[in-house]
Amino acid sequence: DPYYPDLGNGGYDVQDYKIELTVNVGGNQIAGTVTIEAVALQDLTSFNLDLSGLEIGEIKVDGVDAECQRDQPELIILLPSEISAETDFTVSITYGGVPEGISLVDIGFLEGWISYEGGIMVAGEPVSSQSWYPVNDHPLDKATYSFIITVDKSYVVAANGLLKETTDNGETYTYYFESQDPIASYLVTVGIGDFDLEEEIGPNGLPIRNYFGSGIPNSVRKEFDITADMIDYFNTIIGEYPFEAYGVIVHDIDLGFALETQTLSIFGNSFVDEEVIAHELAHQWFGDSVTLSSWNDIWLNEGFATYVSLLWFEDAYGREGVEEFIEGLYEYFVEEEDYLQPVGDPSPDDLFSDAVYYKGALTLHALRMKVGDDIFFEILQTYYARFKNSNATTEDFIAIVEELSGEEFDDFFDAWLYQQEMQDIPEAGWFREDYLDD
Ligand code: ARG
Ligand code: ZN
Repeated sequence: DPYYPDLGNGGYDVQDYKIELTVNVGGNQIAGTVTIEAVALQDLTSFNLDLSGLEIGEIKVDGVDAECQRDQPELIILLPSEISAETDFTVSITYGGVPEGISLVDIGFLEGWISYEGGIMVAGEPVSSQSWYPVNDHPLDKATYSFIITVDKSYVVAANGLLKETTDNGETYTYYFESQDPIASYLVTVGIGDFDLEEEIGPNGLPIRNYFGSGIPNSVRKEFDITADMIDYFNTIIGEYPFEAYGVIVHDIDLGFALETQTLSIFGNSFVDEEVIAHELAHQWFGDSVTLSSWNDIWLNEGFATYVSLLWFEDAYGREGVEEFIEGLYEYFVEEEDYLQPVGDPSPDDLFSDAVYYKGALTLHALRMKVGDDIFFEILQTYYARFKNSNATTEDFIAIVEELSGEEFDDFFDAWLYQQEMQDIPEAGWFREDYLDD
């Protein structure tokens, strides 16, 4: 990755992870096995996974013992015999220990597997997974997952996908979750805690299951009642919801952010409102199903989710209020243009800058003003239809814009994404000059 070169590894493509863990929640200890099904993309004598901390036990490749070396975050698997290109292989790794949070972007707290009073949360972007299992930790290598998690009976486990089975082992329960659609590693989550499960059926029979920490008040839980209506609306403007389920885990901790983990977004006990709820849901289409190919393209996630959440407000409450809000953004970015990171290249330390979210959204608004609603929504739908369950780049998006509008858009996107100076949006009557402070 141009921003985070340690993330991810080449030479193979993971198809599936099966993660079997026993979790001692109070002691924050894990022990178990991950089984990885992969296909070699070239002849291999070794390959790398990513793992930070934890201890490795036995490794088997296609049933034969293998050795490893560690140079964190790299976990180097030395193959007992060469695997030739295009061959499927299975690696199982027994491991365990006390997971430690990690951080790549300076956001002031640790991410990944986080233990808190009463539970475990797994959340992080751009890194998370390597803090608790060996993984090819880059969004380009999506894979399907199953989770077989055993905990003391006083806890409930939630994970991506659908709960297929719960086994009563006497003192413990084993939860078996399966996700049929491929997931990028930063969107993998497991939550363990004293959760109340609330279920409903959404549009087209979609299961919605929300896990609320037992201390989460009704006023916060009620905010999520709007979810089915939002899904319904996004289905009509973007395309059918991508996965087999949706819902949230609301951890009873003060988080300051939310995260669009696939089929199961994560929230804390604050920072829950209609905009954030719409934003994380919108990410299921843009971010989770259509995923960026490298982290410098983060605007494809955040600019899109931000703009799509504004479309929800437009539909629910009328166009006027939203337009006023967007004009406020326009004014703000003209005033701040000397200090902005470029939307399309915000730098590895500032992945979640305001520009990425809001100037990214403004970029889409400017596009919509230029091509008109019909073509704009056709662009959104085509981009989703072509890249769902896969990865896209800014160039992929621009190519669709040019195809459907019949016009050249390189200069437009160059100006909006890579220049600091704000552009006019003449169709809205917004000219940079008029908003400059004298
Ligand atoms: N993708 C998340 C959102 O926009 C942002 C997460 C940023 N925070 C973090 N801890 N990495 O909702
Ligand atoms: Zn977001």
